[in-house]
Amino acid sequence: MRAFAGVVGVVAGLSMLCAGTAQARDWNVIKDSGTIVAATEGAFYPFNYFEGPKLTGFEVELAEAVAAKLGLKLEWRVVSFDAQLASIRQDRFDFAIAPHGHTEERAKSVDFANPHYCTGGQIAAAKDGPLTIDALKGKLVGVQLATSYYENAKKIPGVQEIKTYKADPEAFSALKSKKVDAWISDKWLIKSTLEKNADSGVVTGEQVFVERVSMILRKNNKDLKDQLNRGLAEIVKDGTYANLSQKYFKTDISCR
Ligand code: ARG
Repeated sequence: MRAFAGVVGVVAGLSMLCAGTAQARDWNVIKDSGTIVAATEGAFYPFNYFEGPKLTGFEVELAEAVAAKLGLKLEWRVVSFDAQLASIRQDRFDFAIAPHGHTEERAKSVDFANPHYCTGGQIAAAKDGPLTIDALKGKLVGVQLATSYYENAKKIPGVQEIKTYKADPEAFSALKSKKVDAWISDKWLIKSTLEKNADSGVVTGEQVFVERVSMILRKNNKDLKDQLNRGLAEIVKDGTYANLSQKYFKTDISCR
């Protein structure tokens, strides 16, 4: 962390001399350092999560494979999802993979790499609970804060209240303990989570919206964006992506 801050400090200093403003680490600096620094949350199973002390998951392995294609080591920072957009602008890491859906609001402050999977926000509830958008009228909905699930839940007419949670598993717990009537989250996450918790009594309902998700990076860092896209294209081409998708989801979750 300190070493990275030091490098950033020097870079920021140099670029201030050159351009008058602080910049994110650009590609040459990252390449010369041999290490790229990535942020994730570690609480979004099976995309990024902890297995004991080990950070793993579809996105964790995917980012490590991309970094390897770029000839770099990858160093992880664990950052809560709601803090990632702001901290990327403070040079705390080079990119985040968490997964961020493309939204106009986010595009004002960060850039998106090409999407690494396509998905949707979906309702989950008890078997006799509200499983459609219409059925959410007068109901309590649980979502993780700062997410597209929250933004889209707000658009559903007649919802009694949206309860927000710091991390997505807390919203699932709230549903299981009947503090909320429904939970909205990523459709692949819900599928995997329900498979792992077969006795939860929770089932999947209607899809609320679709989204494409990508790694995010600081704006105006075209070389880094090109390199991340190159690495992603290479792992698609050599079959690594397909293997990871099968390993975690038993299906192809790419944007086809
Ligand atoms: N894909 C959703 C969004 O873009 C939420 C992702 C939540 N990620 C997490 N690590 N909790 O808002």
